[in-house]
Amino acid sequence: MRTNVVIIGGGPSGLLLGQHLTNAGIDNIVLEQKTKEYVLGRIRAGVLETGTVKQLRDLGLGARMDVEGFVHDGTVISFNDEQIRIDFARHTKTAVMVYGQTELTADLYARREADGAEIIYEVSDVEIEDLSADSPRVAFTKNGQRCHISCDYVAGCDGFHGVSRQAIPQTARREFEKVYPFGWLGILSETKPVHDELIYANSDAGFALCSMRHANLSRYYIQCDIRDDPKAWPDQLFWDALRKRIPEKFADTIETGPSIEKSIAPLRSFVCEPMQWGRLFLCGDAAHIVPPTGAKGLNSAASDVYYLADALTRLYRDKDLAAIESYSARALSRVWKTQRFSWWMTSLLHHFPHQSEFELRMQLAEIEFLKSSEQAQAVLAQNYVGLPY
Ligand code: APR
Ligand code: PHB
Repeated sequence: MRTNVVIIGGGPSGLLLGQHLTNAGIDNIVLEQKTKEYVLGRIRAGVLETGTVKQLRDLGLGARMDVEGFVHDGTVISFNDEQIRIDFARHTKTAVMVYGQTELTADLYARREADGAEIIYEVSDVEIEDLSADSPRVAFTKNGQRCHISCDYVAGCDGFHGVSRQAIPQTARREFEKVYPFGWLGILSETKPVHDELIYANSDAGFALCSMRHANLSRYYIQCDIRDDPKAWPDQLFWDALRKRIPEKFADTIETGPSIEKSIAPLRSFVCEPMQWGRLFLCGDAAHIVPPTGAKGLNSAASDVYYLADALTRLYRDKDLAAIESYSARALSRVWKTQRFSWWMTSLLHHFPHQSEFELRMQLAEIEFLKSSEQAQAVLAQNYVGLPY
């Protein structure tokens, strides 16, 4: 088998990259270790930056999103009963789109299938060979048979636990990591969202987030001990804890009901440098992870994909090598700014174990400053809707 670009990983990064390449007439094959049903069963965040929305529309992938998604032109940040509304529309003249990653991934699969572009599911033992040669090869096992694809380039879109990043020699790779000493306990419930915008809440009892998927599906999170077992959080305990963390007017009106999903996610910041090695390019979670505060995971992946697709298109169309050579530097420059924002929001809104009174006062001062400063709100809005690319 031979193709232009082998894409390892059929999550949002791999599928989005594949769509860009297919639209540009660049041959590509996606290798995914799971089944489509498994990938679509994963529940992830649901806020799309302006740039992600534009990319999807430009690729012809915006139709369902534009009907079923919700445009949000602001969000609420709260501390106990104190509320600050961040007005995206006023500060940035743009908005974000609330549209679940699961829906977006389903749209990407449907389109790939309609285009007849190749995706090979349930592959195992993926290995990248000859990365420094002109024609690298990707080996994998499918139905017990070892197969090989020769290609021009390999895109590592295989998430944090994938094999691609490990193909960059350890001596050439630097990894930066911060693990946060708490997790997020999240539930989905078939209830009306408590507010028509997201609420990011800090409180004396810790962090909470009120989010949503649609008019009758809410997504709520509370900060928890990372060692907790979701089973130790019956629904009633969850709702009681959530109510304590959000402003009274929302606590009094929130509609509660049985959870249809409950899980705990760890919080981590991680960046791998460089994001390219020979003919291998990393995109998305394969290269970096953010804590979910600010919903940057998928969006940060989408900006990598944009840069890589742009570089590959220039290469195949114009024989221009410059963009491909600078992919890592260009992507990392935006990745680090997104990391900063996610870290800042996480630091501002959570209770840290052993937090001193001084550190608590710093959080309060930051909240007070945000409340009083239009410029600080504008900076938050600008980062939340997404930095330009
Ligand atoms: N071979 C083939 N596929 C692999 C391999 C492998 N060795 N390892 C992992 N994969 C697949 C996974 O099964 C998954 O479907 O790669 C895909 C990676 O998808 P994600 O982990 O979702 O990462 P990415 O596509 O970069 O998504 C970025 O979306 O899923 C969120 O948290 C993620 O928000 C982040 C964003
Ligand atoms: C979600 O809806 O799951 C969500 C929204 C915003 C975040 C994180 C998660 O910052």
